[in-house]
Amino acid sequence: MNVAAELKPEATLVGSPSGALTGVVDVPGDKSISHRALILGGMANGETRISGLLEGDDVLHTAKAVRALGADVERIGTGEWRVRGADWKSPDAPVDCGNSGTGARLLMGAAAGFPIEVTFTGDASLSGRPMERVLGPLRAMGARPEGSTLPVTIRGGGLHGISFVNEKASAQVKSAILLAGLRADGDVEVVEPALSRDHSENMLRAFGCDVDTVDGTVRLGERRTLIGTDVIVPGDPSSAAFPIVAALVVPGSEVTVRNVMVNPLRTGLLTTLLEMGGDISFANERDEGGEKVADLTVQASVLRAVEVPASRAPSMIDEYPILGVAAAFAGGRSVMHGLSELRVKESDRLAAIIAGLRACGVDARDEGDSLIVEGLGGRPPGGGSVQAHHDHRIAMSFLVMGLAAREPVTVDSADMIATSFPDFMPLMRSLGAQIA
Ligand code: S3P
Repeated sequence: MNVAAELKPEATLVGSPSGALTGVVDVPGDKSISHRALILGGMANGETRISGLLEGDDVLHTAKAVRALGADVERIGTGEWRVRGADWKSPDAPVDCGNSGTGARLLMGAAAGFPIEVTFTGDASLSGRPMERVLGPLRAMGARPEGSTLPVTIRGGGLHGISFVNEKASAQVKSAILLAGLRADGDVEVVEPALSRDHSENMLRAFGCDVDTVDGTVRLGERRTLIGTDVIVPGDPSSAAFPIVAALVVPGSEVTVRNVMVNPLRTGLLTTLLEMGGDISFANERDEGGEKVADLTVQASVLRAVEVPASRAPSMIDEYPILGVAAAFAGGRSVMHGLSELRVKESDRLAAIIAGLRACGVDARDEGDSLIVEGLGGRPPGGGSVQAHHDHRIAMSFLVMGLAAREPVTVDSADMIATSFPDFMPLMRSLGAQIA
């Protein structure tokens, strides 16, 4: 079921105190891997079959974009897609990336390798997000971009190599450079002082491309031709985060989330929740489509405060909104460091988390790039009306808070949940969550 069908634009949702959550659920396919599967498939020779694709709005925009750029992209069943790659061409119209920073930045990198001209557009949130972080290195490789926020026009082709230091630990920036580098002459390397998610590297290898990672430096080798392959998309840990934290904070809960990707560059939240005393067990760890997955069983737990080092931020960058909620339930002051990137996500997430927590009676503030949450060691008051700023992860986080707060929590705009987790509502309700 698609949440967009159930919700009117601007829909208000309320998360209300719920009885114990119980059940076994599968979360949707990983968003990062879904974008990459479509883009790499669209550039590859031959056919790529994708199963478990996340059919959220962000990824659907990327599917349309790859089609507009010349590939044959076909949905053959739920989560089942077939892509036949092509040499990309200049599309007839601007390519709309919707709300998706990943879609926009990876597509810009990929398009820059071809001798084409493409204009990228996006919604109001995406149009305010910084693109220079990818346009700078693409320009250094020889592309001719115009604009620094969307709309951005890329004129590509004739690229040369680059050695780029990824100071922001951004997987989107790294991926844009690697994708452009597929069609560049010369050495292409990205030096990572802190490692960002490595899905592009893993998937490029699966498509037959030479990619080496040595001491934090990712380098493309000689062989840069992609050959279509099958991609199985594992469950998204960033979506699993919501039922996991819900199960931890709603008394008496026991929830199993199956098939969650546990790539170590994505598990910062799980590490942190374990440090907080969360009862989370891993079962059936296995390799699926080149990524590690596991079934996670979560029991309601008494949480304690935590200090999260800045070095962990890249492995949980999208999980701070829900960690902020978990910290509100924990006993004591939690401090999370190194969060400057949160200010340039789908919303200013640092500000949105603090405002949302305060609206629910929890003391929270920022100090520089750190988030400080004064946990209540039990149920926070709730009762607030939270502004989601059209940000899916803010909306879902505070709906989870409402499940275990003393009073219901209202979220002003929940329509954007469909960008990453179209089945959030039915999945949470199936566990017993009161969200309406
Ligand atoms: C993503 C990288 C992260 C993350 C985003 C997905 C990716 O962004 O926040 O949701 O798929 O590469 P940054 O690269 O900007 O950190």
